[in-house]
Amino acid sequence: MKNNFYKFLEDYRNENFSSFHTPGHKNNFFDNNLISLDFTELPCTDSLYESSGIIKNLENQISKIYDTDSSFISCGGNTLCIQTMIRLSAKSGDKILCDNIIHRSAISAMALLNITPVWLERKICKNSGLATEINLEDLENKINTNNIKAVYLTSPSYHGILQDIKQISEICKKHKILLIIDNAHGSHLKFLGIHPINLGADITADSAHKTLPVLTGGAWLHINKQIYNKNLTNQAKSAMALFGSTSPSYITMSSMSLCADWLENDNINQKFKELTQKVEYINSLARQKNIFVLNDHVKTDPTRIAFGAFSIGYTGFELGEKMREHKIEPELCDENYVVLIPSPLNSNLDWERLENFINKIETKNKFKPNINNTKNDYKTEISLTQALLSESEEIHVMNSLNRISSDIISPCPPGVPIVIPGQKINKSIINNLLTRNISKINVLK
Ligand SMILES: Cc1ncc(COP(=O)(O)O)c(C=O)c1O
Repeated sequence: MKNNFYKFLEDYRNENFSSFHTPGHKNNFFDNNLISLDFTELPCTDSLYESSGIIKNLENQISKIYDTDSSFISCGGNTLCIQTMIRLSAKSGDKILCDNIIHRSAISAMALLNITPVWLERKICKNSGLATEINLEDLENKINTNNIKAVYLTSPSYHGILQDIKQISEICKKHKILLIIDNAHGSHLKFLGIHPINLGADITADSAHKTLPVLTGGAWLHINKQIYNKNLTNQAKSAMALFGSTSPSYITMSSMSLCADWLENDNINQKFKELTQKVEYINSLARQKNIFVLNDHVKTDPTRIAFGAFSIGYTGFELGEKMREHKIEPELCDENYVVLIPSPLNSNLDWERLENFINKIETKNKFKPNINNTKNDYKTEISLTQALLSESEEIHVMNSLNRISSDIISPCPPGVPIVIPGQKINKSIINNLLTRNISKINVLK
């Protein structure tokens, strides 16, 4: 008998929503043969953390596609690539200069490895209500006044916002520190000529499954040919093995193999160019309805669709609900935005639904985006490691004012923490947690 979880997903699939969310294969790329390839480490099937056979060949194929010094595959998502990247970049007691739009996996890796983040500032854009570019003056100042081992940025962000990787990489090279990028949302940027590795990043973590036809959990770590510390390539496997499962999915790896073959097609750049054109067409329809198109205001990934729902009188949650009524499933809805992740695997029906939705949506009086939760101030009272590993107790959020968190609380999506270990809980954190229906938190005893 099928259990409820399985049945639920089957029923959901049968409703035939248009997927504008991850994974990038849109259930439209693999056939049933894939499920018959669920093997394990056999003498002939290689082993992920000591790869020298068919897995190594796949990694070499991916490295060639991305023109890297070396690339490594992960079946533990980008989370595992981020943990690996941090392990490679710093040792216990070191500091990393960090973007404050940061995925929880980076916080947990730094906490477990006793690495201290020094926080960078992003500019706040009042028009969009979002934290946008890294403040470059702040970056240089903090590099000059701290003994920093690496700069860690998230680019693109969930909303698609891109950092100026080229310029930042020049600053990092001048100071001889690593530039490491959480490129979870940008595996496809290679085919638009703007992958962070090609713009000078030293290491990137790419969540391949988000925007490419790869099964959920498939990701890759890239190391730049120009990296000054060649030892990092040798250390990458053992760094990954530190956090990764010893049972990586052969089905996920097989999906990466099929994706790599697809990426080697001569017309792959054309496919992504066409995707950009489809997105631009949708954006042009949105503009006619006075919908705030994020790409018009901030430098973003041209394949990401981010609509400011406030511009037509909705919250992002409400606009997302309206989309679902039209059989469109978005990736992320927040107070201000609806974010869609399309890929070349979306069908004509998907695009038609989106076009019809925009043409039909009833627009209301616009309001300003809410910027209350835009700025993440992760100042901590004690180190991440100390706070994570000390004795703690679970209390109600309402009683947590001025207590020190030992938790990382970061609802997904986007997985960017509301609070991190060591942070003193203030009123704004409490409001933010309660708005997200989070009522319990672990605090230091
Ligand atoms: C910016 C960012 N980094 C990292 C991750 C983690 O990636 P994965 O889910 O592949 O582990 C996510 C997931 O949503 C993300 O949005």
